[in-house]
Amino acid sequence: MAKNATLNAAKDAKHDEYYTRYDDIQVELNHYEEHFNGKTVFCNCDDPYESNFCKFFLKNFNYLKLKRLICTSYRSSPVIGTQMTLFDYLGEPVRKENGYVIDISEVPMANGRGVSDDDIEKLLKSKRRGVKKLDGDGDFRSDECIEYLKQSDIVVTNPPFSLLIEYFMQLIEYNKKFLIIGNPNAIHYKEIFPLVKNNKIWVGYKSMSADMLFDVDAEFANWLVANKKQGSGYKIVDGVVKGRAQAIWFTNLDIKKRHEKLIMYKHYSENEYLQYTNFKGIDVSKVTEIPCDYYGYMGVPDSFMDSYNPDQFEICGLSTGDSAKEIGIQKNYRGRTDLAYIKNGKHSCPFSRIIIRRKENKDGN
Ligand SMILES: C[S@@+](CC[C@H](N)C(=O)[O-])C[C@H]1O[C@@H](n2cnc3c(N)ncnc32)[C@H](O)[C@@H]1O
Repeated sequence: MAKNATLNAAKDAKHDEYYTRYDDIQVELNHYEEHFNGKTVFCNCDDPYESNFCKFFLKNFNYLKLKRLICTSYRSSPVIGTQMTLFDYLGEPVRKENGYVIDISEVPMANGRGVSDDDIEKLLKSKRRGVKKLDGDGDFRSDECIEYLKQSDIVVTNPPFSLLIEYFMQLIEYNKKFLIIGNPNAIHYKEIFPLVKNNKIWVGYKSMSADMLFDVDAEFANWLVANKKQGSGYKIVDGVVKGRAQAIWFTNLDIKKRHEKLIMYKHYSENEYLQYTNFKGIDVSKVTEIPCDYYGYMGVPDSFMDSYNPDQFEICGLSTGDSAKEIGIQKNYRGRTDLAYIKNGKHSCPFSRIIIRRKENKDGN
């Protein structure tokens, strides 16, 4: 492999090692409780010992009335083989080339007040029901993991950032319900946008613009501190370095948020809204400024996805790329089919827009 390719591969692999914090899982999952009753949940990028997804579903297995929980880990996970416990409980050395799985249909509680950390530890240790070695490496695309996928109802995880498109496509191919973490820019990917446009995927509760912090291992924490800016690349919380990444939840589970009507206060006036020079529509730079009486195309920032109600709006296209061409955006002052306007007397392009249209007409129908 060429030197640059090796470096990029190493960087990508590193970016796959952002571990989701328990509280972030809890806060989002609070909105989905009704979906889990009697269901099989699959966390397919999750070391049973390390992943807070695994911990969350073990702790809440009885409360959510799950039927079954399956968590599989990938061979290259840096945490595999680092826990003495895993070594001990399996009774043999952990092998880096194998993935691991926990597959359970019952989480016993020592007392009736909920699943304790002791209960979880006992379960993980259990020779009969605890963590087992997979035949293969635990790649979510392997036959073995796809077999688990077929048996599951809902997939919940934070998958490797570098394989997000493939990961999404597999969920769609197997027609699974899911709640997963991913980069918000994925909305603009040519493979993902059609799914967003056709209401096959939407964003979860966490705001598009809020920070998301992740646990990172010590080596990566040192690297972040040496190479990234505090605030944008990492943050220090209670003396511990947390990786910061642009991340939101993507789901196809129906949630209340999606049915809440956006209240629009502003009225349209030609003087207040810029018209695009290469497309018939207006630019709305803030979601709060979507006019209540405009029924043509509007270019809005990505944060609109937080307020998107498919009964109220239609997602029609993107401001750049193939989707822009498809919706009829003409060549702009730079000869490109990116949305453009004249702002303060100068030709320019707005930053990342989603093109939407109201579903209701002037009569409110
Ligand atoms: C962003 S991390 C998140 C880990 C965990 N799901 C969490 O949220 O804490 C992605 C994980 O996917 C694992 N991974 C990378 N490639 C994979 C693959 N092809 N199949 C399954 N897991 C993979 C990495 O080892 C890493 O642990």
